[in-house]
Amino acid sequence: MARYGLEDFDADQIDDRPIAVVLSLSRSRMLNMRILLAGLVALFIATRPGWGQEAQTASDVQKGRQLAILICANCHVAASSQPFEPILQPPASSFESIAQRESISADWVQTFLATTHRGLDNPRGMPNPELLESQIKQVAAYLLSLRKNP
Ligand code: HEC
Repeated sequence: MARYGLEDFDADQIDDRPIAVVLSLSRSRMLNMRILLAGLVALFIATRPGWGQEAQTASDVQKGRQLAILICANCHVAASSQPFEPILQPPASSFESIAQRESISADWVQTFLATTHRGLDNPRGMPNPELLESQIKQVAAYLLSLRKNP
């Protein structure tokens, strides 16, 4: 009986993909599908409500901060360490200054973020940022974490 060593196998001939898939999809389409799938998984993980739901946790504040820098920082100074200046000039009130207002509560911020404030009567009002409910809670938690005398 002939004995085969590893060097007898041509790696190119080894293919563990089901043959139907290989026939119907080109490599680049498979790659696209993989990227799409990875994106969907990431979205699922990012938007999945946490176990502790209602409790405002340090990770809520942390996620809210990231969202704020990504989205809100275009128009507000959302964090003193944000990597770029707001595009809106002059910018809307800084989050630090908003957080010090006594009239502001988590509920108020959440309601504010779930609606639009821009219209014919107020063309410079803030547009609805179209966040998910879980993201609204995170951003509100972050904003209020900037309050100096809670
Ligand atoms: C396209 C620009 C823009 C973006 C993006 C934006 N805002 Fe605003 N925001 C404004 C403007 C302009 C105002 C003030 C006018 C108004 O009340 O509508 C405002 C007002 C606010 C207020 C009320 C405080 C006040 O000055 O009356 C809060 C709270 C707020 N923004 C939070 C956020 C959060 C949180 C985000 C990110 C999720 C965000 N904003 C993204 C433009 C923006």
